[in-house]
Amino acid sequence: MVRPLNIGVIGAGTISSSHVRGFLKDGRARIDAVCDVFERHAKMKAERWGAKKVYTDYELLLKDNEIDAVNICLTPNLHHEVGVASLEAGKHVLTEKPMALTLKECDDMIAAAKRNNVKLMVGHNQLYWPPHQVAKQLIEKEIGKPIVLMSILHGGWPAHGWRGDPRIAGGVMMEAFIHRFYVSRYLMGEVKRVSCVLGKTAAHLKSEDVGCISLGFQNGTYGTITANVGGPPAVWDDRTEVVGDQGMVIVNGVQDQILQGPPLLHYKDGMWRNYCNERILDETIEDLKMGAEQVKFTTYELDTNFLNTFFYMVKHFIDCVVQDKTPFVSGEEGKRIVQIILTCYESAATGKTISL
Ligand SMILES: NC(=O)c1ccc[n+]([C@@H]2O[C@H](COP(=O)([O-])OP(=O)(O)OC[C@H]3O[C@@H](n4cnc5c(N)ncnc54)[C@H](O)[C@@H]3O)[C@@H](O)[C@H]2O)c1
Repeated sequence: MVRPLNIGVIGAGTISSSHVRGFLKDGRARIDAVCDVFERHAKMKAERWGAKKVYTDYELLLKDNEIDAVNICLTPNLHHEVGVASLEAGKHVLTEKPMALTLKECDDMIAAAKRNNVKLMVGHNQLYWPPHQVAKQLIEKEIGKPIVLMSILHGGWPAHGWRGDPRIAGGVMMEAFIHRFYVSRYLMGEVKRVSCVLGKTAAHLKSEDVGCISLGFQNGTYGTITANVGGPPAVWDDRTEVVGDQGMVIVNGVQDQILQGPPLLHYKDGMWRNYCNERILDETIEDLKMGAEQVKFTTYELDTNFLNTFFYMVKHFIDCVVQDKTPFVSGEEGKRIVQIILTCYESAATGKTISL
């Protein structure tokens, strides 16, 4: 029997649990070691995840020959340092977003992965969400000629702690709005030019908390991202809509559906098609039965559970390591998103539209 992949988790904070749930659910990997500068965090999570080893120094974890791959769940400013060291130690790397804070840092990581013949994958988890994958197919085949995308992030949480410090997070656009960037590019194709206005509404912040970004895509389509993290607590709206000349697609939120409807809707030929998970499907059908005379609709079942984005992402990482495949979000892909966001910062600073 092939032994499970031994994973070392570096950074045992908030997001690490979502990744580990994925590793444990997949079954082809086990958590061998946990590292966090706060030993208490590391011990608590190691116990919960069945890991044998606890480290407070990531360099010691990297010397452990039993570890095959590391899962970097650290603040963005550490992705480069720990990423390069892990790759140089011959470990496969799955790192959280953003890949790193500068293009040079991304290049270092890409070169280290090549030099050591190991996998480097960046955690753009929302690309593994089935409604986004179906939306992409619908945009390509079922809305006619795509025209424009509108993507939103309204997060009801202030950018407190390290998230509000650009030296650690790279800025709120880099750390939080990033999901809207990689999803927009996934749905519409390569970005050709950007124009960006950023604002700071919370006095205590060192970085922006609101952004309006215009995107021009290589295929001649257009897009906007409107994002902020200063709304009322508990508001979370991360919708995306794409209009074509024969139809439209609405991704009605990823983590939550603020508009109280199905997570994915497609309109074409006078009919709405709703995509829901099994649980919502039952409720939706009940609701729709009441007003069915006025609405032309069809309902499809789809896995819309946000937490499963991490499961599908981690499963893909294991596939890449075990089957020697190139990650869907490789170092080069992760770097391109960092480049687009850095160009937006430049546009905000200069007031210019900039081509990439
Ligand atoms: N994909 C998503 O939806 C999503 C959501 C939240 C966070 N993230 C990303 O995940 C990363 C981590 O975010 P988080 O919310 O889990 O942060 P966090 O602050 O909760 O966790 C970071 C952990 O790293 C530890 N740490 C700091 N320096 C260390 C070092 N040198 N060695 C070992 N451990 C160290 C801290 O003690 C902390 O426990 C960030 O890049 C963030 O952007 C992604």
